[in-house]
Amino acid sequence: MGVDVAIKGLTKSFGKQLIWNDVTLTLPAGEISVMLGPSGTGKSVLLKSLIGLIKPEKGSVVIEGVDICSCSEKDLYEIRKLFGVLFQDGAMFGSMNLYDNVAFPLREHTKKSESEIRRIVMEKMDLVGLIGAEMKLPGEISGGMRKRAGLARALVLDPEILLIDEPDSGLDPVRTSFINQLFVDLNAQIDATFLIVTHDIHSVRVVPDQIGLLYHKHLAMYGPREMLLSSDEPVVRQFLNAQTVGPIGMSEEKDADQLAAEKDMALPPLPPIPLQLEPSNGVPRKSQRPPGEWCRQNGVTPPPNSFRADSVLSTSGASGA
Ligand SMILES: Nc1ncnc2c1ncn2[C@@H]1O[C@H](COP(=O)(O)OP(=O)(O)O)[C@@H](O)[C@H]1O
Ligand SMILES: [Mg+2]
Repeated sequence: MGVDVAIKGLTKSFGKQLIWNDVTLTLPAGEISVMLGPSGTGKSVLLKSLIGLIKPEKGSVVIEGVDICSCSEKDLYEIRKLFGVLFQDGAMFGSMNLYDNVAFPLREHTKKSESEIRRIVMEKMDLVGLIGAEMKLPGEISGGMRKRAGLARALVLDPEILLIDEPDSGLDPVRTSFINQLFVDLNAQIDATFLIVTHDIHSVRVVPDQIGLLYHKHLAMYGPREMLLSSDEPVVRQFLNAQTVGPIGMSEEKDADQLAAEKDMALPPLPPIPLQLEPSNGVPRKSQRPPGEWCRQNGVTPPPNSFRADSVLSTSGASGA
């Protein structure tokens, strides 16, 4: 089914360095959310806070009635079983083959027999397209395969919540498209609540139901995909369209002089909102809503030519038109 993850007033500092302040959002059950933000804004810290690896000073993260920021170690141990996590580097044990890597959580957290473990491992390896590679060591395979192996491992305990940190870093555009399709297919199949951190603008436009943006030590915006893709909010617009004009500078925020110099610069029009990526077996997502519904309900005029099949092509770079 997936479960809601209700984050309220979350604040985290390391010593004197504030990472983010008062982050409030709810990941809706069974939906895919993507979190964006310039490097170093604390996206990975947020993921780690959700599984209790990092303790925020203030706020709560409530999952099935339990606040993981204040619960006992015992409750935290139980809640963690709801999560599957794919860290940025895949975090595979280098000396174990893929089979043993994927089997690891089952051997660690369950009392299942080896034959039952084999059935589950092979099912997940099949799901991510890695049948035949079980005996390979992580060092012998490509980055894309390592990520898929990490995903298989994140899936073996049948998670209700999947946290995925930069799955596309270091992947070429074609493999990025394959992994995006895999997320959408998995989401339709297992119904889990997804939170994906990515920098890939094309993925952000077509994969999620919800988009969030961390910027300047706070959550600048979080909401339905159509809301952010039609937003005129300068920082959202700049980030989602990869522009230099806007409040985000090369290293930090731009200063007042830089912003004043940009004041009269015309921004390129917002590109059309593409159709959402659908599961490859043609079955709609559990959370799928009609294209343009959010815009209609909220009286927002989407950018021209939005929600057309060909707008998917033009934003994924497959067509120059
Ligand atoms: N365990 C830690 N101790 C101290 N500082 C940390 C720790 N983890 C992350 N940071 C700092 O928090 C900031 C945000 O890091 P991170 O979440 O990795 O950013 P992002 O994933 O958005 O690129 C960085 O300045 C980083 O140095
Ligand atoms: Mg990170």
